[in-house]
Amino acid sequence: MSISRRVITPLLLSRTTPTIRPAARLAAITAPLLRPLHNTPHALKNMRCVLIKDGKGPVENIYLGEEPTPSPKKGEALVKIETFGLNRMDLLQREGKYNLPPQASKTVLGVEFAGTITELGEGGSKFKVGDEVFGLAFGGAYAEYIASPESMLLPKPKELNWVQAAALPENWMTAYQALFLETGLKEGENALIHAGASGVGVAAIQLALQTGKAGKVFTTCGSDEKVAFLKNLVDNDPRLIVINYRTQDFEEEIKKHDTGIDVIVDFIGKDYFQRNLSVMRRDGRMVLLAFMSGAVVDKANIAMFLGKRLQLRGSTLRSRTVEYQANLLQQFKEHALPLIVSGKYKVEVYKTYPWTEVIEGQKEMAANKNSGKIVFEITK
Ligand SMILES: NC(=O)c1ccc[n+]([C@@H]2O[C@H](COP(=O)([O-])OP(=O)(O)OC[C@H]3O[C@@H](n4cnc5c(N)ncnc54)[C@H](OP(=O)(O)O)[C@@H]3O)[C@@H](O)[C@H]2O)c1
Repeated sequence: MSISRRVITPLLLSRTTPTIRPAARLAAITAPLLRPLHNTPHALKNMRCVLIKDGKGPVENIYLGEEPTPSPKKGEALVKIETFGLNRMDLLQREGKYNLPPQASKTVLGVEFAGTITELGEGGSKFKVGDEVFGLAFGGAYAEYIASPESMLLPKPKELNWVQAAALPENWMTAYQALFLETGLKEGENALIHAGASGVGVAAIQLALQTGKAGKVFTTCGSDEKVAFLKNLVDNDPRLIVINYRTQDFEEEIKKHDTGIDVIVDFIGKDYFQRNLSVMRRDGRMVLLAFMSGAVVDKANIAMFLGKRLQLRGSTLRSRTVEYQANLLQQFKEHALPLIVSGKYKVEVYKTYPWTEVIEGQKEMAANKNSGKIVFEITK
């Protein structure tokens, strides 16, 4: 990871940007920045966090710097972060291609974390200092501390370790929202979940099969290794049909198995749009959560929307209010978390990196190498 060789104070950050020296990356990891903060003169005010040179840019612009430690406001808790999850949107945000919600940190990436409460804002609290929690954030989780609305936190079950807890919030809440709030998957219906080996895909497949009691779940992925990974994920449940989109056409494959799909969770957009419409049965519902192949669809035939009474919705979890996200967390806690704790649902962590290696983790995700989640641990 590229980091500055000196402690970056807020003052310095606002005036200058650090010099990034790719060749000195390894040496930089051991640089004085990684000394415990209490050895620095800013111990009480500053925290270490992952920042981006010039505010946005290529992965090499990532460095470890400092910002003021946030203070919890009324109804908030200050959490000392142990682990945070990597999400595809972090890559987009780093490149300046993500529309941030107004509550989000403009400088620090990261929408999920796990850690310990060290301070509570004024007002009544359902937590106490020392509680272990995990939660969703509008941003700011690539840091030692985050001030979070209490309602966006859940108590960390003791059965889960820090890495597993940080792997849950964004992927599982997005999947839960897509299947049960947006498309309303019903028992016995067929679902199609694209990018099945993505962090969100892994959660959605399990939720659709077990909580949703789907009839069949079709999923697409881009390699035979990912096909094997996904079959193993559900212990070869015959209701899961995994399609390698590089060697098979998902429209043809689905039609070999059944009359069609009731619910689609799509992240691909352009390349799949027409085929998605084609495989849906009457009253089919599709939720669009991203458009990894492009957002502009040429010459789409939309007649099927009428003939098959199709519904198309779009959503971003991060744009939702605190209340919406809090409600979603509670539904997840009630209906899915017990199955995660009991081991019925697998939390697939592809790799864990120290946070000094955010660059390597982001590169790996950009190359589509991960099956499941990449998580970072905050190191001293
Ligand atoms: N709207 C929301 O609220 C929301 C919230 C969270 C995430 N998301 C979106 O959900 C998606 C998954 O997120 P994640 O963090 O779980 O991602 P991830 O782990 O990085 O997985 C993404 C996978 O998508 C596949 N892919 C990439 N480009 C593709 C293309 N052009 N065509 C087909 N497949 C492609 C790749 O797998 P293969 O090797 O199998 O191709 C890649 O590994 C992302 O697009 C993310 O932005 C949306």
